[in-house]
Amino acid sequence: MRPLVATVDLTALRHNYLLARQCAPQRKAFAVVKANAYGHGAHEVVTALRDVADGFAVACLEEAEVVRASAPDARILLLEGCFEPCEYRRAAELSLDVAVQDLRQTDWLLDAELERPLNVWMKLDSGMHRLGFTVDGLRDCHARLKGAAQVGELNLISHFACADERGHSLNESQLEFYGQLLELAFDNCSLANSAAVLTLPQAHMAWIRPGIMLYGATPFATLSAQELGLKPVMTLTGALIAIRDVPVGDSVGYGASWVAQRPSRIGTVSCGYADGYPRSAPSGTSVVIRGQRVPLAGRVSMDMLAVDLTDLPQAQLGDAVELWGAQVPIDELATACGTIGYELLTKVTGRVPRRYLGG
Ligand SMILES: Cc1ncc(COP(=O)(O)O)c(C=O)c1O
Repeated sequence: MRPLVATVDLTALRHNYLLARQCAPQRKAFAVVKANAYGHGAHEVVTALRDVADGFAVACLEEAEVVRASAPDARILLLEGCFEPCEYRRAAELSLDVAVQDLRQTDWLLDAELERPLNVWMKLDSGMHRLGFTVDGLRDCHARLKGAAQVGELNLISHFACADERGHSLNESQLEFYGQLLELAFDNCSLANSAAVLTLPQAHMAWIRPGIMLYGATPFATLSAQELGLKPVMTLTGALIAIRDVPVGDSVGYGASWVAQRPSRIGTVSCGYADGYPRSAPSGTSVVIRGQRVPLAGRVSMDMLAVDLTDLPQAQLGDAVELWGAQVPIDELATACGTIGYELLTKVTGRVPRRYLGG
């Protein structure tokens, strides 16, 4: 078997969920498990959290089906609502909560014949300009949906654009827009993603919606997951599958971009960009072998990457190589590649087996 595995620590996941709730005492928390639980496996993540989580949030009906099969009684929120009129019927069968973000979805909902009313989360565009009503549009929609047979709870939801940048002026202005609607007497309100859970208590409202923090990564550029008390959930581990000596002046890998400046010992690791390790990782990026950091040497290939073992003479064929995890924080790798932990986690591909610990 190819030695590459993504180990998912479900005990750490639960710790992170409970930390999110501790940040917002008395509030409820939708665990955001869209995109296959940010790459960790929706079924396993939902199963591990279902006895502690107040609910789950997903991006679409297909994802909700997986969550409902794993958590028959959980509250499940469709964050973008339904994409076609026929989906409302299925949403009602599955007892989902649905976002309603525009007039088209409002019309579809009011035209639908449902076996039971749906809890609706009316989405306000408070400044992100991605989805949602204007303040006035939301008032109109509220008037139309209030008392409709298809509607159970009538709730308010919005989303921050810059909660990961503390002190950003948009945070205050989004809160202000949101506040303008609070006199409409909603059953529940929700605004906070992980960054707001961690640093904007005034945005906590009735329901928080932590995503990335559950998986032990930070939403912030300047505050690490460790500083926030988060535990890494996924560890990506490959192995040394070849080792060779490379003389001064010889190159390693595609494009011959890395050239030995000293007699070098080069290891080949069983992980590449087709597994989700970023091709943009530059030479010098750290992996950990036997507890010691060693640098990438040359370009990442589809199935393999090379590391410079010269300063780790005890490294041997078969040694485990941590690509990210407790010793190589995913956020550190993401920063080195000009991206964010979210992208790396969600891009671990299907050919990498997931192994689950704890839970
Ligand atoms: C509407 C909504 N709420 C909550 C989240 C969770 O955000 P985060 O992963 O930053 O906590 C997301 C994720 O993008 C989202 O789209």
